[in-house]
Amino acid sequence: MTAITLRRHLTDAGHDSDLIFLLEDIASACRATAYEVRNGPLKGNLGVAGSTNVQGEDQKPLDIIANDIFVSTCANSPRLAALVSEEIEEVVWLKEPKKGDYMLFFDPLDGSSNLDTNLSVGTIFSIMQVEADGDKNVLRKGDDQLVAGYALYGPATMMVLAAGKGVQGFTLHQGTGIFRLTQPSMTIPETTNEFAINSARQRFWDQPIRDYVADCVAGADGPRGKDFNMRWVASMVAEVHRVLMRGGVFLYPLDDKNRAAGGRLRLLYEVAPMAKIMEAAGGMGSTGTERILDLVPTEPHQRTATILGSREEVELLNQMHRQPA
Ligand code: AHG
Ligand code: MN
Ligand code: MN
Ligand code: MN
Repeated sequence: MTAITLRRHLTDAGHDSDLIFLLEDIASACRATAYEVRNGPLKGNLGVAGSTNVQGEDQKPLDIIANDIFVSTCANSPRLAALVSEEIEEVVWLKEPKKGDYMLFFDPLDGSSNLDTNLSVGTIFSIMQVEADGDKNVLRKGDDQLVAGYALYGPATMMVLAAGKGVQGFTLHQGTGIFRLTQPSMTIPETTNEFAINSARQRFWDQPIRDYVADCVAGADGPRGKDFNMRWVASMVAEVHRVLMRGGVFLYPLDDKNRAAGGRLRLLYEVAPMAKIMEAAGGMGSTGTERILDLVPTEPHQRTATILGSREEVELLNQMHRQPA
């Protein structure tokens, strides 16, 4: 049987050749990043780099290496006009934007606090198109995304894409370097009994999140009438991938500690791409009060409250946010 490669899939789906080239550049960058991540301990690339990014986070050597790989690899695409990265404060303009040119938003390494302990990390990315010649607006709502995707550097390196119809998962074949379609038409189960949240922040949570988690923890003895499990890797890509594969809900809500910053996770290159993937797979993405893909950012590194996952849980969380306190 012929293996369906990433290129074959994108070509069969009828994408514009410039978009296919860009997605192949992204795939190359993910492959190079996977290589660097796997050799991190051997090349002395663990620990901290000694610098901070625009979010005030300590950068890891691999945050910077992955960012450099994406910039140098993707900047080759002739129709790529702009780059927005977690690790770069300003928007990078590569050319004078023309209508239809691409803008790439990316988190070069997600979950990088896991690097020193050799746990799964990933890359998140999103592509939008310039609306008119000379238009330098990158502050667009998630619904404007043409493609959303992520790479997971786990036991296997995977790339998951929402480009055109549905969500497809590709696995990197070690040796040939080819991404092969291994999960066609991924769909997220509507119901689940797993949730993911950093529960050490419980004392900072708002009431709807407290109530939701309390009901899950009460299990079969509580209003949900069934037992739940909690899982937390502290790597959004790993978390969202698990949720996509077997159902669940991932929460990083606004709380008393992150409210002033607008939340923990960044809208344009972390949460909006994951929300597009979730919706394309039959799940949902919400802040609790608003649909993620409707949010219009006011700055490139804007943060947002985040709820992603199985329809039944996200709908319940939305309903719990609507109830008066
Ligand atoms: P990044 O490594 O790109 O800065 O993102 C880290 C994020 C996300 O991956 C994860 O879900 C979250 O931070 C973990 O937060 P806690 O440290 O509160 O667990
Ligand atoms: Mn970071
Ligand atoms: Mn991240
Ligand atoms: Mn990151």
